[in-house]
Amino acid sequence: MKVTVVGAGAVGASCAEYIAIKDFASEVVLLDIKEGFAEGKAMDLMQTASLNGFDTKITGVTNDYSKTANSDICVITSGIPRKPGMTREELIGINAGIVKSVSSSLIEHSPNTILIVVSNPMDTMTYLAHKSTNLPKNRIIGMGGALDSARFKYRLAEALGAPISDVDGMVIGGHSDVGMVPLTRLATRNSVPVSEFISEDRLSQVKEDTKVGGATLTKLLGTSAWYAPGAAVSALVQAIACDQKKMFPCSALLSGEYGLSDLCIGVPVILGRNGIESIVELDLNDAEKEHLNTSAEGVKKTNGLLDV
Ligand code: LAC
Repeated sequence: MKVTVVGAGAVGASCAEYIAIKDFASEVVLLDIKEGFAEGKAMDLMQTASLNGFDTKITGVTNDYSKTANSDICVITSGIPRKPGMTREELIGINAGIVKSVSSSLIEHSPNTILIVVSNPMDTMTYLAHKSTNLPKNRIIGMGGALDSARFKYRLAEALGAPISDVDGMVIGGHSDVGMVPLTRLATRNSVPVSEFISEDRLSQVKEDTKVGGATLTKLLGTSAWYAPGAAVSALVQAIACDQKKMFPCSALLSGEYGLSDLCIGVPVILGRNGIESIVELDLNDAEKEHLNTSAEGVKKTNGLLDV
């Protein structure tokens, strides 16, 4: 199993590190445009192999896509991250050009690959990857919901005073501060609805804290986060590589599901060796449907800024 990660910045390198530590891939190629940068990150990571006990071979390359040839899975993290006070949508101008050229270079050398898009604004960049490569829709996946759900579970556990392993929950919708739809009604502590343990007000607070999860970290760190984004991507890569048939909310191209079409937005999907094996349609209540529809309008508005 060969995995390419484009962008050796903090998210790309964390992603490569988590993939290697889990030891399910034979090879990870880290590619960056900055001369020597990916080579350096790859060498540093390889020097953790004997300490962390993995055999995955990590190779770094400077913009040489021939080294990515025949990758089973390619992850695109390239582009500029947001700075404090910026929205993900403000990154569209620069990142659209990057995502378009990176996806076509990847497909040229790995025509059968599955693409995972991480660059922001993620739902729009995933849509752009679809439009510019024309790959079958099961083979392009946007990473947002897996990360937002991990942040949701962190906030739920905090509010419940429970260990995170006791908590389950999912965030669907767009990967933006206003677009996220944390499904509080369906969140559970060991299969019991969380509303049995915490008040509606506290749950609303959890919802709001989840939606600004990325912005909160950007403010603290001065740039966007990397550990949880890297871990979320590695979980998707593992689900595909190991044909796990796991369910994650991911940005998928919709054609009528949830009453929505011609956009990529976060919905639960089953991930396996074919990428998106199916889209799961949840029975949302009216408020959740309305929130998802508003989120979709926002994503479509951002898509409208693309030149496709
Ligand atoms: C975040 C970026 C990866 O939410 O979108 O941290």
